[in-house]
Amino acid sequence: MLSGKKILLGITGGIAAYKTTFLVRLLIKAGATVKIILTESASSFVSPLTLATLSKNPVLSSFVLEDKGSTNWNNHVELGLWADVMLIAPATANTLSKMANGTCDNLLLATYLSAKCPIFFAPAMDLDMYKHPSTKESFQKLESFKNVMIPATSGELASGLHGEGRMAEPEDIVSFIKQFLSEGLPLSDKKVLITAGPTYEAIDPVRFIGNHSTGLMGYELAREAARLGAKVVLVSGPSHLNIEHDFVDLVRVVSADEMYDAVHSHYESSDIAICAAAVADYKPELIAEQKIKKTSSTFNINLVKNKDILYSLGEQKKHQFLVGFALETENELENAKRKLKKKNLDAIVLNSLNDSGAGFGTSTNKITFIDKNSKITAFELKSKSAVAVDILSEITNRINA
Ligand code: CTP
Repeated sequence: MLSGKKILLGITGGIAAYKTTFLVRLLIKAGATVKIILTESASSFVSPLTLATLSKNPVLSSFVLEDKGSTNWNNHVELGLWADVMLIAPATANTLSKMANGTCDNLLLATYLSAKCPIFFAPAMDLDMYKHPSTKESFQKLESFKNVMIPATSGELASGLHGEGRMAEPEDIVSFIKQFLSEGLPLSDKKVLITAGPTYEAIDPVRFIGNHSTGLMGYELAREAARLGAKVVLVSGPSHLNIEHDFVDLVRVVSADEMYDAVHSHYESSDIAICAAAVADYKPELIAEQKIKKTSSTFNINLVKNKDILYSLGEQKKHQFLVGFALETENELENAKRKLKKKNLDAIVLNSLNDSGAGFGTSTNKITFIDKNSKITAFELKSKSAVAVDILSEITNRINA
């Protein structure tokens, strides 16, 4: 796949830069020609001489090259056009922000702006930097330019802290690029339907029955599915969240009945459906037309069951890969497996309320992914965006198997 490919590797100033020596070796071993641009701060972490020796090409750092008394111009336009693939690894928060905003104050950035080939970036930074809204904004902007992110992983960081922000391992970066070049993004020809958030069941014109779901898990799933190239329909109950992405069609609903209708109008044409919404199980039998007055000392509302959207999708399932969520407090595995079977699912994502940081109303989640063949994969506590990466990777592994 990489044989004969011209790869331009941009290395920026983070401790993960030392791993690029392995990355260059793997790329060369795969038959690629590698040219390297090193930012000034990156050269404190990895030696230009090592990289030049491994890549068998001079390592470039500035616009001008002083060589044996003559001064040459490192032409960023030529470099950008030379490359079949440009990879920025590790990509620091600083460089990502500059790339997202068109700043052009070094050779790497000028070349990035000139390149016409597919561009990949592998972020590496400390966990708080990785989850900062401004960093996330850079990711989103770069993805809207069709640059491809190779997400950081979770683990021990140079700061001594533990969390997300570790650059993907060189082997994983190389396989990611190989897969992209051979097949495009893993979900590029797929349509994904996702439900998110709570539903509000009206009691009268001003009151409702609802729950504390924020919708975050569903929105992160939508973002990740779009990042993997899917066309996404996100049917969301009331949520303060928003998503702006060319590939995501956000359909806002209020009640379970509205969610049911919206989901069914998109289900037939979907390849994957993920129900992450916390749908109200019951709704008031009658909605008062006028605001109810507090005339009596007690007050009863007669509730009737809402339609189970996920169950109905299971009943009508044809080609779709159908995934549900289960929030359990006891006999978690058995209950989740029972739900998977009863609702005719291909997989279920189990959250246990016994795990702190899991479930809804939090920015983190701890999940166990169970498929219909009872293959069980348990994950550690992660941010919901990292959980979305895990869930979509479990799904794509199965649909592309
Ligand atoms: N779900 C749905 N429509 C409903 C209720 C639930 O689509 N009316 C979906 C949720 O989005 C989730 C899954 O079904 O994917 C949750 O299943 P459910 O049986 O409701 O789980 P719990 O709410 O945990 O149910 P129970 O209270 O019976 O444990």
